[in-house]
Amino acid sequence: MYIFYGKAPLIAHLKPIISANSTIGFVPTMGALHAGHLALIKQSLNENKVTVVSIFVNPTQFNNPEDLAKYPRTLDADIKKISDLSSEIILYAPSVEDVYGKNPKSETFDFDGLENVMEGKFRPGHFNGVGTIVKCLFEIIQPTNAYFGEKDFQQLQIVKKLVAKNQIPVTIIGCPIAREHNQLAMSSRNERLSVQEREKASIIYQTLLEAKEKFGKEDLETIYQSVQQTFENNPIFNLEYFTIADEETLLPCLKKEKNKNYRAFIAVFVNNIRLIDTISLN
Ligand code: PAJ
Repeated sequence: MYIFYGKAPLIAHLKPIISANSTIGFVPTMGALHAGHLALIKQSLNENKVTVVSIFVNPTQFNNPEDLAKYPRTLDADIKKISDLSSEIILYAPSVEDVYGKNPKSETFDFDGLENVMEGKFRPGHFNGVGTIVKCLFEIIQPTNAYFGEKDFQQLQIVKKLVAKNQIPVTIIGCPIAREHNQLAMSSRNERLSVQEREKASIIYQTLLEAKEKFGKEDLETIYQSVQQTFENNPIFNLEYFTIADEETLLPCLKKEKNKNYRAFIAVFVNNIRLIDTISLN
């Protein structure tokens, strides 16, 4: 395994690989790796000659300083997990200064409205931070393929838009959501839940499944009300949003139309820990 803490030696290491036209797969992460991240890395290993993983808790995408401060940082354990997958992986684990210099700052992007709903609405500036770091990492690594989880479906769509608008020559590959035994979507934030909270959080995916079952049969208002009721009945949870939206535009579905793909999206707080999940309704 190759570990780089600075971009200059990483760029030097990648130069002959890029010149030789070898396929480079890239998996950006913020660390605290779990089976969801590892599935992305495995897919990249299968589909590319070289795989680069980054671990960087990107300060510019956190709108909540407490969330940034409490974000789990487990680099030694992460390195072990990566090296158990393959000894060939290249890891980039930079400092904030290596990426941003002295003054971490976001660029401002126009993602054609994708950035204004759901995560973008409730986490102002979040997607400018994501766009800034992903663009910067793509410039350094110049990947052929880059792997993103459908768990962050809005992020996946935004990265596709970033690449299209800036004509960055990389293929963005969306990967399925890895779940815990009780169907809770895997997340680095799950580590901060108590054992009981983690068990009870299965209600999030259950709610999505129920919405999927009802979509097209019951009217949207009834589905929304029933989701709200579920969380009112379970006061350890605080529902931030539940939306049924068009997969392409991410705008709320007003009426189910043929030839469109829809998805349900949810964000829930458990004891100040924010969890998100999503399901395809088609
Ligand atoms: P992070 O939350 O660490 O996630 C890294 C990648 O793993 C993302 O593409 C995310 O969608 C994917 N992922 C997380 N949980 C998953 C799960 N349960 N199943 C499948 N994939 C999952 O997303 C970020 O980091 C950052 O915003 C980043 C893109 C690295 C930019 O800073």
